[in-house]
Amino acid sequence: MAEVVIVENRSVAGALVADEIVRLIDTIPEPVLGLATGSTPLPVYEALRERLDGHDVSHLRGFALDEYVGIDPAHPESYRSVITREVIEPLGLDPELVRVPNGAVETIEHAGDDYEKAIADAGGVDLQILGIGTDGHIGFNEPGSSFASSTRIKTLTQQTREDNARFFDSIHDVPQHCITQGLGTILRARHLVLLAFGEGKADAVAAALEGPVSAMVPASAVQLHAHVTVVLDEAAASKLRLADYYRYTYANKPAWQGL
Ligand code: GLP
Repeated sequence: MAEVVIVENRSVAGALVADEIVRLIDTIPEPVLGLATGSTPLPVYEALRERLDGHDVSHLRGFALDEYVGIDPAHPESYRSVITREVIEPLGLDPELVRVPNGAVETIEHAGDDYEKAIADAGGVDLQILGIGTDGHIGFNEPGSSFASSTRIKTLTQQTREDNARFFDSIHDVPQHCITQGLGTILRARHLVLLAFGEGKADAVAAALEGPVSAMVPASAVQLHAHVTVVLDEAAASKLRLADYYRYTYANKPAWQGL
């Protein structure tokens, strides 16, 4: 089962995950990080910024989970712009080594296969950061997504468009389509680290971790993976039936075990 770590707040969560990423950067010759957008991973990126001084990141590769289709990459809310602003620039990464799925309409038919090949050529993702949507999506894999899916075009649900409307002038400006790593792609990463904060995520987290494995809850795919860490604040953990067991397990974790 996933290791569930319940922490006091977002910055403790960010520090925990950032420490693990620094360990990867220092120990793996060509580390590959799976990047997520949204507000959830921001504390990880902030904590990384504080920790990376003096560490060599010139070899760090990154692959973002998803992108809107048809959005100008220069639009401030394209995921290419978000990753540049929140990850590449502050962490001093080589932009050539950080990829975001290509949402250009003209090349969309083969953009998914191109992305899968790029991930495979890089040797696969070592650690994939994940947020979770209120409907249980990861990346942009909306309910009903196949557990075997690879990077492809998807249609966003109305709920996701409403959730993401806050980043645009109005909901009408939120693109209807996206290109996202599939659940199969995500499951190929060697370590999944899912973060969630706030009461609004509590139902989705409980369904994903303790409900049945179901395409209706795409994040429940993490139950199929052998190495998953879930980092939650109290509010996001508030609907977990086994919360006390997770706390007990973490408190009694052998010192030699990493995340
Ligand atoms: C978007 C992204 C997801 C993200 C989700 C939650 O839909 N495609 O990768 O996990 O939003 O966003 P937030 O972290 O802002 O709650």
